[in-house]
Amino acid sequence: MYDAGDLIKFGFPMAFTATMLSWAILEYGDNMKRIKELENAQDSLKWITDYFIAAHPSPNVLYLQVGDPKLDHRCWQRPETMTEKRPVTQINTSHPGSDVAAETAAAMASASLVFRPFDSAYSTLLLQHSKQLFAFAYSYRGCYSTSVPQVQEYYNSSGYGDELLWAASWLYHATGEEFYLRYVAVEGSFYANWGVPSWFSWDNKLAGTQVLLSRVNFFGSRNIQGTENIALQLYRKSAEAVICGLLPNSSSATVNRTEGGLIWVSEWNVLQYSVASAFLALVYRDYMLTSGTKSLYCDGDLFDPKDLHDFAVTQVDYILGNNPMKMSYLIGYGENFPQYVHHRGASIPKDDESSCSDGFRWLNSTNPNPNIVTGALVGGPFLNGTYNDSRNNTMQCEPTTYNSALLVSLLSGLLTSSSIVHSFL
Ligand SMILES: *[C@@H]1O[C@H](CO)[C@@H](O)[C@H](O)[C@H]1NC(C)=O
Ligand SMILES: *[C@@H]1O[C@H](CO)[C@@H](O)[C@H](O)[C@H]1NC(C)=O
Ligand SMILES: *[C@@H]1O[C@H](CO)[C@@H](O)[C@H](O)[C@H]1NC(C)=O
Ligand SMILES: *[C@@H]1O[C@H](CO)[C@@H](O)[C@H](O)[C@H]1NC(C)=O
Ligand SMILES: *[C@@H]1O[C@H](CO)[C@@H](O)[C@H](O)[C@H]1NC(C)=O
Ligand SMILES: *[C@@H]1O[C@H](CO)[C@@H](O)[C@H](O)[C@H]1NC(C)=O
Ligand SMILES: *[C@@H]1O[C@H](CO)[C@@H](O)[C@H](O)[C@H]1NC(C)=O
Ligand SMILES: *[C@@H]1O[C@H](CO)[C@@H](O)[C@H](O)[C@H]1NC(C)=O
Repeated sequence: MYDAGDLIKFGFPMAFTATMLSWAILEYGDNMKRIKELENAQDSLKWITDYFIAAHPSPNVLYLQVGDPKLDHRCWQRPETMTEKRPVTQINTSHPGSDVAAETAAAMASASLVFRPFDSAYSTLLLQHSKQLFAFAYSYRGCYSTSVPQVQEYYNSSGYGDELLWAASWLYHATGEEFYLRYVAVEGSFYANWGVPSWFSWDNKLAGTQVLLSRVNFFGSRNIQGTENIALQLYRKSAEAVICGLLPNSSSATVNRTEGGLIWVSEWNVLQYSVASAFLALVYRDYMLTSGTKSLYCDGDLFDPKDLHDFAVTQVDYILGNNPMKMSYLIGYGENFPQYVHHRGASIPKDDESSCSDGFRWLNSTNPNPNIVTGALVGGPFLNGTYNDSRNNTMQCEPTTYNSALLVSLLSGLLTSSSIVHSFL
């Protein structure tokens, strides 16, 4: 489970990958089952959560990285023949990382819900790790990229408040314990930035937290009063501000989109934002349908669940080929997809035994990749809709695990035109 095209295990984005895969299974597992993909999704998730269990040997120690990115970037080898040193990096009480600890707690809490119906011992184990990690994140505050500055070049964290709220929200869903709801209500006032839309990504979980807590407001808040109830309403209002920004015909529609309608936020890995946005809109659509909520009010205009669904479909259609390049950004899908994905396993022929530095001839090669990294979602196009299919163009051509997890979430939600939301518990 390397993070992207190279051979490093980065815990922070990997934990987000697992949390998204869990969320997808919890909301849309029935759809996955219909096409016989549920077990694959569960297996992929367990591969990651097994690793996290191993990476968390005691309550206040979490290994967040395997490999040294500087050494790794001096090599270009297949994972099967890698020869580089593999140092491990941890956070602990003297060098805390509330962001990575809380995201890993979110991953393990959400996964504990996934496994609860058929492997209760494993589910209980995950929940125990999750609670310990949340307590660690909560008691020893700090950004992991401050404690371990060498990660800044790769996955620099902009703050940990969003991960604390996200983890507490998942722990509330997984346990029903009042403590976690109280936490999001009280600490929420420091970190939640209510009412201000943000982009959902590996770094910022606020928009996801707002939609996830809307779930409680839609379906589970009958007996919740006082501060908690008010906070849940504020989270739902904030989720609505996010969704209103996404709908192209709303008066608060974001200008951050291409002429073709793709949500476009950054030259680096833009599709992460498009897919994550579409997923949130789709989940919110399903909460509306299931609760019988007929419309969403956006600054004077009313939108119905179908508008949210249609927005999500525009993002998927763009990604799969309805775009200026007439290209599918999902590798292995359609007739025309990127041939120069920045990915070692895909770019090196299967029997190659090149040494660390000789392997660079495969990065340098002008031939297309010999192997197809099926299911990878590359970074995606420029604002003007062009795409430079060139192997060392990492901002556009490198796939990531969280891109794929987000796309799995979105596509599994689109398998039916109307999904029924059920309880996680
Ligand atoms: C705590 O983590 C820091 C940062 O990774 C590391 O330098 C230090 O050795 C760790 N402390 C212990 C006791 O292992
Ligand atoms: C990482 O993020 C911190 C806090 O946002 C910032 O101060 C720092 O300059 C960033 N580092 C890099 C290398 O971008
Ligand atoms: C937005 O409004 C235009 C003009 O009324 C309409 O043609 C279009 O279908 C709407 N788009 C969406 C996504 O609803
Ligand atoms: C959205 O686009 C505006 C205008 O191009 C830009 O200033 C802003 O930084 C963008 N916002 C984000 C979050 O990318
Ligand atoms: C690959 O290209 C780089 C930059 O042009 C060059 O320094 C390096 O020697 C090349 N390596 C191989 C093995 O071809
Ligand atoms: C599209 O945008 C990229 C990045 O800004 C730029 O390099 C390229 O020249 C542009 N292409 C066209 C056709 O405008
Ligand atoms: C690939 O990109 C990296 C980072 O931008 C650069 O250091 C390296 O020289 C490039 N390699 C080639 C072969 O162009
Ligand atoms: C495409 O990306 C490669 C690698 O980053 C770069 O060397 C090349 O100049 C780019 N080509 C265009 C047309 O932008």
